[in-house]
Amino acid sequence: MYIHERLCLWLGHLKLSRVIFAVLLILFVVPLVTHYYLSKYESSSISLGSSSVRHTLDALGDFTTLTAADLKMRIEEMLRIKASVSTELRELEARRGRLQREAAAAGARTDALRAEHARAAADLTRLRVSAEQARIAQLEATRRDSPQLAPPLQLLPSRPPPRLPPPAHQSEPDCRMHSCFDHSRCSLTSGFPVFLYDPDNHAPLANAEVDGFLKTTLRQTLGYNTHLTQKAEEACIYVVLVGEAFPSDSKNPSPSSTTEGYKLVLNETAIRSLPYWGGDGRNHVLINFARRELSVGSGDAFHGAATGRAMIAQSTFTQGRFRPGFDVVTPPALGPPGGDVWADCAPIAPARRKYLLRSRRSVLRESTFVLILAPNDRSYVSTALLQARLYEALRSGAIPVILGGDRVQLPYNEVIDWRRAAILLPKARVTELHFFLRAISDADLLAFRRHGRVLWERYLSSVQASIDTLLAVIRTRLNIPARAAVPAVGAPAFNDSYSPPKLEPPTIDTEPEETLGPLEAPYPSPAYKRNYSLSLLHGYEMWNDWGEPFTLYPQLPWDTPLTSEARFVGSPSGFRPIGAGAGGAGKEFSEALGGDRPREQFTVVILTYEREAVLAAALARLRGLPYLNKVVVVWNGRAPPTMSWPESGAPVQVVRGARNSLNNRFLPHHLLETEAVLCVDDDAHLRHDEIVFAFRVWREHRDQIVGFPGRYHAWDLNYNNGFLYNSNYSCELSMVLTGAAFIHRYYLWSYWRLLPAAIREYVDEYMNCEDIAMNFLVSHITRKPPVKVTSRWTFRCPGCPVTLSADQTHFHERHKCIQFFSQVMGYTPLVSTQYRADSVLFKTRIPHDKQKCFKFI
Ligand SMILES: *[C@@H]1O[C@H](CO)[C@@H](O)[C@H](O)[C@H]1NC(C)=O
Ligand SMILES: *[C@@H]1O[C@H](CO)[C@@H](O)[C@H](O)[C@H]1NC(C)=O
Ligand SMILES: *[C@@H]1O[C@H](CO)[C@@H](O)[C@H](O)[C@H]1NC(C)=O
Ligand SMILES: *[C@@H]1O[C@H](CO)[C@@H](O)[C@H](O)[C@H]1NC(C)=O
Repeated sequence: MYIHERLCLWLGHLKLSRVIFAVLLILFVVPLVTHYYLSKYESSSISLGSSSVRHTLDALGDFTTLTAADLKMRIEEMLRIKASVSTELRELEARRGRLQREAAAAGARTDALRAEHARAAADLTRLRVSAEQARIAQLEATRRDSPQLAPPLQLLPSRPPPRLPPPAHQSEPDCRMHSCFDHSRCSLTSGFPVFLYDPDNHAPLANAEVDGFLKTTLRQTLGYNTHLTQKAEEACIYVVLVGEAFPSDSKNPSPSSTTEGYKLVLNETAIRSLPYWGGDGRNHVLINFARRELSVGSGDAFHGAATGRAMIAQSTFTQGRFRPGFDVVTPPALGPPGGDVWADCAPIAPARRKYLLRSRRSVLRESTFVLILAPNDRSYVSTALLQARLYEALRSGAIPVILGGDRVQLPYNEVIDWRRAAILLPKARVTELHFFLRAISDADLLAFRRHGRVLWERYLSSVQASIDTLLAVIRTRLNIPARAAVPAVGAPAFNDSYSPPKLEPPTIDTEPEETLGPLEAPYPSPAYKRNYSLSLLHGYEMWNDWGEPFTLYPQLPWDTPLTSEARFVGSPSGFRPIGAGAGGAGKEFSEALGGDRPREQFTVVILTYEREAVLAAALARLRGLPYLNKVVVVWNGRAPPTMSWPESGAPVQVVRGARNSLNNRFLPHHLLETEAVLCVDDDAHLRHDEIVFAFRVWREHRDQIVGFPGRYHAWDLNYNNGFLYNSNYSCELSMVLTGAAFIHRYYLWSYWRLLPAAIREYVDEYMNCEDIAMNFLVSHITRKPPVKVTSRWTFRCPGCPVTLSADQTHFHERHKCIQFFSQVMGYTPLVSTQYRADSVLFKTRIPHDKQKCFKFI
């Protein structure tokens, strides 16, 4: 019975083995091996089967006639048979195990081959898309009939202004730029060189001396101005500091406090003998900065003096003396030489303050409005007193209400739109004033006050601001572009003779197989295409919205796009319309960038602190990412090790921070060549489809931060005392952290130029909050919230080493950051949003023959 049982079991095994063989045969993986084993196995099992059946039948048939000896013999024989069968079974069992292992190995290989095939197919699609894009790019290059326009050589005059006969009248009341200015000294490509007469050697006043503080400050501040030149013969304009002045006769110092101030006497001999005066003072600017509203220099320093064809910049002008579009009304130099000015300012909120309307200085900070009267003497269009009142009002956040504002000139008003910061009323409105002021809504009050503060900070607050603005105003008239923004040149981490060897990174299986776009050669964003048209078309925004007329940037987030048909009619260069213009769903979408802008790429900026392994993983993850132009690694801490780094598919450049600072993340490195910058923490795990989708969204929200981790600022209900940082689940957000976000390259410059230095210093001190600072900055400039994209992503990797932000003090510090930054800026610029961007066909039911924009998002 026992043998019978074993036999059945064995036959069962045999069946199982056959099934495995059948599988092997079907798969055709190892046909030869299979054939060999199969034949051997079949024959042996059949012979074994027949012999054991025969033995068994024999034993049963003769059972009745058995003697004891026979029985013993038979039993022994049976035992022998059993032993031999057992041995055979053992062998078979071993063989079966071996075959099973081989079958499993073959199965695994099939799976691997199948995956390989899928990957190869995906690669092929990608390559096909890339090849198609390369073909279009090549076609575009050959078709371009006009070469790139290069500027002519920089044209600079080689001689100082030649001597001309002085004008018939002592000074020309009708001077305008076209009649009194020598444009030939200031070619479009000259860069607007400015020469400063040393105020110590040229004393232009007969009865007074120029304030020593101003002399030093002017020399210093002009030194910081990129237009200053030492070569007088090349200069476009010549700056003479005339005041503010003190009487040289100190025994008789008291000027009368009339609007005219103390009578200054210009030493006309000294003026006319200035080395580059050229007979009539062409292209000269005579500056008279008032430092105290009623002091000596606060009057019209040039009253009755022969100033020829020179421009005059001061705070006091009479109707007859002021030549519109030629002379410049400047604010008094009441502020510090330069630097941060926020500490003097009052917060912007609440909209309505304790007093409605005041004109006393002491309560300016508690007044909603401040009344400023135009000069009584109607022959004045501006006085130092008026300008000083305006200056103080803006600084304290009291909205200036200028009665008689319709006949005064405010500082730099040919470029600054004062209607957005001050209320200018004719004197006749005085009876309606109270009603008028009460009728203004809170939101508008805050807008006036905020804008006034921005104008004050940018253009009036310090001597540096005033001087820079004065020169920028004259440059703007001439339509000469500002000097180009200077990129940060970080220390390269590796010398020229060494670059780290590249490793083939392990294939990462987590990437979904999806063609997300062509892999192209690096393609920098076109730069400096609007040198001369920018200030014509966007001059107003430059001065009044963006607050940055001083520098020329390679691109701005607000650059104008083409109209929709223009990319098919006449201006197709660089455009990659979806389906060549016919549109289309997922397949066509994945092949072209589409949109209203030409094709472009982005740069990844990774800030890392001495974590090679984490960085290597981050680089490996970027492999095969479409539209990636370059990876810039900002390495904080000690020198990077000379290890081998994984290939990321794009050029990787490593720069070392001069010191370990989180602000380094936002340095406008010269290595960046694209408008779009993707800032990522080294441990942020972003999938390729998420990155590409965010990039496409950013292309439509170029002036906003577009990224993944949303946070918000929540009011502190317990203490009713400002905002707290909050990262809880919420349906509203106001910040997108720059650990994983796209920003425009312009903001990297703004971070250093427009953000008060106190904020960057705070970031350094606490090693935290640079991302909050960037959100403050962008919302401050644009008054827009950031854009959060897609829900699918994981910010931190689970197994990664503990990060800076892990410890408990982190949150506490971030509350403090929000409160401090708000204090510095006078308000909390963050704007809330309840909006998130997902791709157009996300969660849409579509026909089977169509594809979604992205498979998973
Ligand atoms: C525009 O200005 C930039 C920066 O100064 C310069 O490099 C570029 O050549 C200029 N382009 C033209 C066409 O003038
Ligand atoms: C006026 O300037 C000339 C030349 O610099 C100088 O010689 C003369 O003394 C000055 N006159 C007065 C009154 O300061
Ligand atoms: C360049 O750097 C490598 C590695 O850091 C170093 O071995 C080599 O001596 C350096 N070469 C020069 C010229 O500094
Ligand atoms: C986040 O939510 C938790 C529980 O819902 C709460 O205890 C915590 O105080 C919240 N954190 C903040 C910063 O609001």
